[in-house]
Amino acid sequence: MSRYFYVTTPIYYVNAKPHLGHVYTTVIADVLARFHKLSGDVVFFLTGTDEHGDKIMETARSLGTTPRELADENSQRFRDLWPLLEVRHDRFIRTTEPDHVQTVQRILQEVYDRGDIYFGEYGGYYCTGCERFMTETEMEDGACPIHKRPLSFVQEKNYFFRMEKYRPWLVEHIQANPDFIRPERYRNEVLGMLREPIDDLCISRPKSRLTWGIELPFDRDYVCYVWFDALINYLTGIGYPDGAGFDPLWKEAQHLVGKDILKPHAVYWPTMLKAIGLEPYRHLNVHGFWNVDAAKMSKSLGNVVDPLDLKDKYGVDAFRYFLVRDMVFGLDANFSEEALIERYNADLANDLGNLVSRSTKMVTRYFDGVLPAPSGDTTDMERELVDRASVVVGEFKERMEALELHTALISVWSLISAANRYVDRASPWELAKKDRARLSTVMYHLVETIRIVAVLINPVMPLASRKILDLVGWTGEVSLNDVLPFGKLTPGVSVSPAEALFPRVERLAKAACDAAPTKQQKEEKRPGGPSNLVDISRFGEIEIRVGRVLEASRVEKSDKLLALTVDVGRRIRIVAGIGTSYTPEELAGKHIAVVTNLKPATLMGLKSEGMLLATDCEEGGLALVGFDRTPKVGAKVR
Ligand code: MSP
Repeated sequence: MSRYFYVTTPIYYVNAKPHLGHVYTTVIADVLARFHKLSGDVVFFLTGTDEHGDKIMETARSLGTTPRELADENSQRFRDLWPLLEVRHDRFIRTTEPDHVQTVQRILQEVYDRGDIYFGEYGGYYCTGCERFMTETEMEDGACPIHKRPLSFVQEKNYFFRMEKYRPWLVEHIQANPDFIRPERYRNEVLGMLREPIDDLCISRPKSRLTWGIELPFDRDYVCYVWFDALINYLTGIGYPDGAGFDPLWKEAQHLVGKDILKPHAVYWPTMLKAIGLEPYRHLNVHGFWNVDAAKMSKSLGNVVDPLDLKDKYGVDAFRYFLVRDMVFGLDANFSEEALIERYNADLANDLGNLVSRSTKMVTRYFDGVLPAPSGDTTDMERELVDRASVVVGEFKERMEALELHTALISVWSLISAANRYVDRASPWELAKKDRARLSTVMYHLVETIRIVAVLINPVMPLASRKILDLVGWTGEVSLNDVLPFGKLTPGVSVSPAEALFPRVERLAKAACDAAPTKQQKEEKRPGGPSNLVDISRFGEIEIRVGRVLEASRVEKSDKLLALTVDVGRRIRIVAGIGTSYTPEELAGKHIAVVTNLKPATLMGLKSEGMLLATDCEEGGLALVGFDRTPKVGAKVR
């Protein structure tokens, strides 16, 4: 029987153009939707725009336009953007659409008739940025903690939703369903909010103050509060109440949101659903924020990242890969173009690009572009590769389901690295001279591994995936259910040589850093202080990450050098001069600090891709720089 999967993004306000933050949530939703489609599920993916309320009204007024014109223009920008990023939603909803207006009015009337909406008076501090009242505990020095703007006190007669009444039920529901809100940090945050009374929710605005909204069906002098209107889009979008697909899809609803809108989704929405008489959604998936240079993206700081610019420079696939790979779902991440380039060069140009390019070229060179049947002996090397592939497929699926998206990719990259190591160890160029049967086995295993990798990366990099599958002659369906067993590619298919799938990108010019010191910089060198002060941005150019030593061995003919395989989020090799202070055995499993963005160097014929940090000991010899708690492998050392 088919499983259902219904995923939503927040509907975005139309007071501004789309930026990196909106793109992140929507790309993640698309990745999940594609993953579930490839797993054979019935999928519905909803996104759209949130068009009513004070915020839109105010922006329109300040731009000398009408809210409708502003909404039309900016909604269209979002709608136009998604196909350019390979985002394939099933519906793009606008809260000004007639079916949504009707659904909101119907729900308002039903909840009112049941007695869960009442008329009363309320005074409180309102943030137009968040479009909600802030409680005393949420406020910071009289300002909104997110928008940092002073709050205005609003007192008026309004309609209220009996939200507090449902608080005990909600607490129980969250406690009984540990993955209702995930990751756990946000679940805890919500349980914290629910420890105190939550007040009833003011769900109207008098028309004397705001007309840009959905009229209350039971009082034409009021419009509906924008959040009450907006959240209902998740029901309208799949045809509530009697659309054919509504019931099975709603049972499997998952919302994706940024941490900024946790409270409306984790508190208002489930209590509203309870009052409507519907089951709550299955999961609320909450992610962190992309910051730029450690600051929140904002127009006033001028650090808003334009997604189209990045897509044009690096391609859709690489941009999507970076977004998924470089943010731990749930935590904040820092965006920098430099990090994107580094990720691109290391993972895409080097690891994946190289593997595909050298493997397909060898099939062309040695077998005229026809995939050979594996006719030679199968060794441990092949068995290891096949085992890794099957472990990775399982791991990938599990991690995607658990929303551990970046580790799902790390797992796929472990297979890519294994395949690259396999090429090095099996040396097909040597076999070509002496053992064609073995060569055929090696080439078959390589190309088949590439097919599996191409299927796994499909949700994140749909274009590259398709391209690679075409190159290796896979004409079948792309599906995650039957990606295994290993050996699905039929010998005899044509394999085409890959031209650079991901051509290397040069690092950004850091003109400012390379320039001679300015007068001011010279003056900053205080007498008695270090004479080589560096600017913080310059220090930031050096990337130090937590590494875990996976293997270590002595380098032949050297008593000082050890060759280490280190996991720094990807596997790298480091050749280090610590052989007189450490034995290979005591290094395995150690957490160390590694400079990961040095130009590779060759030592005793071995390429070293990083540098570990060490210092002199009192008693002589070297001590590795380490950590006093267990650090996260791959995390940046700041
Ligand atoms: N209209 C409301 C949502 C209503 S949903 C029923 C809204 N809109 S918004 O345009 O402000 O979008 C907020 C969302 O955009 C965040 O929850 C997040 O998904 C995304 N992001 C905006 N800035 C972001 C970052 N800097 N980083 C990551 N995502 C962020 O709130």
